[in-house]
Amino acid sequence: MSPEAVYEVLSKVTDPELGRNIVELGFVKDLSIEDGRIAFTLELTTPGCPLKETLTAQCREALLSAFPEVREVDIRVSARVRQDARIQERLSVPVKTVLAVGSGKGGVGKSTVTALLAHLFHRLGAKVGVLDADIYGPNIPRLLPPVQGPEAEGERIVPARTREGIVVMSVGFLVEEGQALVWRGPMLHSMLQSLITQVEWPVLDYLLLDLPPGTGDVQLSASQLLPLTGALLVATPHPLAQEDLRRGVDAFKRLSVPLLGVIENMAGEVWGEGLTARTAESLGIPFLGSIPLSREIAHAGVSGDFSFLDKGELPFRDVVEAVGSRVSVETYRLQG
Ligand SMILES: Nc1ncnc2c1ncn2[C@@H]1O[C@H](COP(=O)(O)OP(=O)(O)OP(=O)(O)O)[C@@H](O)[C@H]1O
Ligand SMILES: [Mg+2]
Repeated sequence: MSPEAVYEVLSKVTDPELGRNIVELGFVKDLSIEDGRIAFTLELTTPGCPLKETLTAQCREALLSAFPEVREVDIRVSARVRQDARIQERLSVPVKTVLAVGSGKGGVGKSTVTALLAHLFHRLGAKVGVLDADIYGPNIPRLLPPVQGPEAEGERIVPARTREGIVVMSVGFLVEEGQALVWRGPMLHSMLQSLITQVEWPVLDYLLLDLPPGTGDVQLSASQLLPLTGALLVATPHPLAQEDLRRGVDAFKRLSVPLLGVIENMAGEVWGEGLTARTAESLGIPFLGSIPLSREIAHAGVSGDFSFLDKGELPFRDVVEAVGSRVSVETYRLQG
């Protein structure tokens, strides 16, 4: 049994989302074959990949049926988020992907969903940063309170860190709380530019960009300053919010930002659930899951305490996994 023969068998296993086989995708690493035992690492493209179980089961089955002499198949699973190459071409920051969180309308929970996704990705083992691009009304300092930083080092800024190690930068750290921020177009653009290029961003799998509501100057500046890997839209299931969602979709399309999909927020008894999924379908964009209107989330918005996520099974796993796999599909699409 040669490594080539093993690769040949493994190349029958396909990642259904990327539509290519796992050997061609470079998922198979550190292959070793000895005494009826095959061991390798399956390097997936997102932590907590929803396909983990299916893919490992398919690999094991394929190998056991192709090689009767094999007694044991040992598969370790790891994750490496792929680089959106455009980021390093344009900026010298070690950030792999940039995800903008936007909406057509204010108050739908963009900042809350940004902080929630940051915590969820972090808990799945990813390196996460958050850039508060809502420079008119920065809410990220309250949602992700830092225990350290930010600190100025000459011309450079070392970003803040939360207790968990989520990296955070916000204009809110630089001004007094409650102070109104009035920006003119060019100032706004250069402030955003500083937040991106003057900050010593560490290696990050996902940099989440919390946008202000609507479709204005910040969205335009952000899409000019950064290659955005994609946009996540947040919408509530309220009937009137569906028009805003359409506007949000239209705005990102005009800016040529790929739409990763829509997250429904504040679902539940008051506004129901499911309307956003139907709108997403009619607009031809992926629906990434639903987050309920909940006391715990509302409380986290005030206290910055997301420890409710640590009680038992990780909640909203479906949502963060859906986001992770859409990002990996997008980075592969960009590679061509
Ligand atoms: N799923 C939820 N359950 C309970 N409360 C929520 C939920 N999502 C958001 N909220 C609350 O709704 C309010 C608005 O949320 P948030 O500030 O995140 O919205 P936003 O879209 O970022 O607003 P803006 O457009 O002003 O930036 C906050 O008080 C927040 O705590
Ligand atoms: Mg906000």
